[in-house]
Amino acid sequence: MPITILIGAQWGDEGKGRVVDWLASSADIVARYAGGDNAGHTVAINDDVYKLHLIPSGVLQDGVISIMGNGMVVNPVNLVKEIKGLQAMGVEITPKRLLISSRAHIITPAHIALDKAKELERGDRAIGTTLRGIGPAYMDKTGRTGIRTGDMLLDVEVFAERLYGAISRTNEVLVAQGVEALNPQEAALDYIDAAEFLRPYIIDTSIYLYKALKEGKKVVCEGAQGTLLDVDHGSYPFVTSSSPTAGGALTGLGVGPMSVDRVLGVAKAFSTRVGGGPMPTELEGEIANQLRGTGENFWDEYGTTTGRPRRCGWLDIVMLRYAVSVNGLSEVMLTKMDILSGLGDLKLAVAYEVDGKQYEYPPVTNEELERATAVYETLEGWQEDISGCRTFAELPEAARKYIQRVSELCDVPINVVSVGPERDQLVLNS
Ligand code: GDP
Ligand code: IMO
Ligand code: MG
Repeated sequence: MPITILIGAQWGDEGKGRVVDWLASSADIVARYAGGDNAGHTVAINDDVYKLHLIPSGVLQDGVISIMGNGMVVNPVNLVKEIKGLQAMGVEITPKRLLISSRAHIITPAHIALDKAKELERGDRAIGTTLRGIGPAYMDKTGRTGIRTGDMLLDVEVFAERLYGAISRTNEVLVAQGVEALNPQEAALDYIDAAEFLRPYIIDTSIYLYKALKEGKKVVCEGAQGTLLDVDHGSYPFVTSSSPTAGGALTGLGVGPMSVDRVLGVAKAFSTRVGGGPMPTELEGEIANQLRGTGENFWDEYGTTTGRPRRCGWLDIVMLRYAVSVNGLSEVMLTKMDILSGLGDLKLAVAYEVDGKQYEYPPVTNEELERATAVYETLEGWQEDISGCRTFAELPEAARKYIQRVSELCDVPINVVSVGPERDQLVLNS
């Protein structure tokens, strides 16, 4: 069966980009289905580090077609910058290799201004958004007032008028927030050029996928963000505005469920979160600093998109179990196992305690989640550098036990882990 859905099983930044790059080596198409340039997916190949925000991470594999699906929200100006940046690094991006859905929604400059204004208004309950205009763009989509990538195929004057209209409508909300309105004509200037550039890339990608699947092509659906940032299933309201979970792949690409035979969840071997909201296993101090790294290495825990330090903590089994359930995961892959080397004893949060009651899955309300404390199980750590291991048999026994225990606690197979950011730093259970 041809579709593999890959999702983030935590709060984003699990290492999805590098796993997609690996899966793409045996696929025909990689299709992103949700989010926008709030995402930052890193792929390291030899001395080059690629940071992808809108373009699917399969683009670095020769012969793979990349699709940006209707579930995404697209900032056309940033997309053109990303395309040109990758082309300058020698990556072939043409309208034959990158297909953009005509039904994705456009992020306007006014959405970005509104994102900032809303965050300021929230004060100490700020979500900590990436300030890319994501929430306001999805609000216009569901409010049925948005403009779409397909509108860039219209006459330039017609597109410009739609854009001015969209900016003016958001301006009304901005002014109500006490923020200065944008000049639609000025704000839209770069967008008109970007539309001209992007026009040949825009098609009906769902029909393209339907035909490709009929021909037996293999498709990887690339999730952005993570399960706990999902607008339905995440720790609402500290979430993004899209559906990063497995169901989102179907609506975000326009493909049917019968073609899916594999749902792979990517989880870091510990927890990270960037932005506000509850994180029951969050640590402060020496261990958190070791997990985060100093920022000198590109893989250290500083946001790929915003550069913000990520909150770090022990692996949260309660959340991972939940991700297994809401996505129907067929397997989990653990990344950054190498970072656990030399930490001493390791902890897994096997349950939460809230008001004297234990929970195996997250409690129902966010208020309870904010009061949850983690119940830990302690496992022996390992000292060895594992970055050169390539099979499970080469891993220290303690590392194998850690993987096995996570698999048991979540009732899901784990047959691949990663031990470094490079393409080949994968450990297979074979
Ligand atoms: P994504 O958003 O899920 O694609 O993840 P990000 O790219 O935002 O963050 C993951 C970071 O971890 C990136 O810098 C990756 O290069 C890095 N990374 C991925 N897997 C490993 C690993 O096994 N070991 C180490 N040290 N770094 C990794
Ligand atoms: P990738 O795909 C980590 C977080 C933000 C904030 C919340 C809402 O790289 O894993 P938004 O700008 O979407 O309205 O922000 O979601 N967030 C991410 N955190 N990785 C991401 O993407 C994220 N995309 C959004 O930090 O807490
Ligand atoms: Mg990321």
